[in-house]
Amino acid sequence: MSETPGPAGPLTALKLDERLRDTRLFLAQALRTFHATGAIAPSSRALADALARYIHVRPDPDRPMNILEVGAGTGAVTRGIAAAMRPGDTVDLVEANPEFAAHLEGLLKTDSELSVIADGASVHAKPIGEMGTDRRYDAIVSGLPFANFTSEEVGEIVDHYFAVLRPGGTLSFYGYLYTKEVRAVIARRSDYLRQARTSWLVQDLVDRYGIRSEKILANLPPAWVHHLRRPATVPPPRAR
Ligand SMILES: C[S@@+](CC[C@H](N)C(=O)[O-])C[C@H]1O[C@@H](n2cnc3c(N)ncnc32)[C@H](O)[C@@H]1O
Repeated sequence: MSETPGPAGPLTALKLDERLRDTRLFLAQALRTFHATGAIAPSSRALADALARYIHVRPDPDRPMNILEVGAGTGAVTRGIAAAMRPGDTVDLVEANPEFAAHLEGLLKTDSELSVIADGASVHAKPIGEMGTDRRYDAIVSGLPFANFTSEEVGEIVDHYFAVLRPGGTLSFYGYLYTKEVRAVIARRSDYLRQARTSWLVQDLVDRYGIRSEKILANLPPAWVHHLRRPATVPPPRAR
């Protein structure tokens, strides 16, 4: 079993056209609602492949995986997940922005890389907090812009992830490099302190449950990816 995610394949004229369409929609939504979107462009393929690492590298190659992607946007990371999926796998794509969710539904029918997983994929046009906790997942890939949220909001989201992640399952998420340093210079003091508290919470999670962290320079802006593994038991939310 290889530790290296597979290649994305050549960027054909069709794929280029699909990416340009995604980028236009992403930018329009980022301008409209930057707090929730948290980026100005979709993630790069390098970042998508890194986030899908523990779907490529699976504990039991014969057992299908149930995957949750949160904040799927225009499907940039979903393509990395799709490339790692095997027959029998399922993926729930959760996206709070209705424009993005409708776009994702369309991509599952038309996109050259996403239509291949359409049978096992479901789009949920709602915030993750409204998803309920009935389903269980082997891997969660989170694209939510934690740096824009309060530590209480991030804590609630992570509690939800741990509630639906099977013991031994992985949570992979990313953030941009140097956001705290940039905010220290350009943000209001209250916003800087809010983000500092959020990054302490994220660092504490990484210290407790982290199995691997990697820097992805081939992304705009460059990013770090953290992978956590859920232990058999996790402390109750308030103790974290
Ligand atoms: C940084 S973008 C990532 C988009 C895409 N995964 C990518 O990497 O290009 C964050 C996405 O999370 C979505 N989002 C924000 N808050 C959310 C929530 N509570 N539940 C589900 N999606 C949310 C936004 O609408 C946006 O599409």
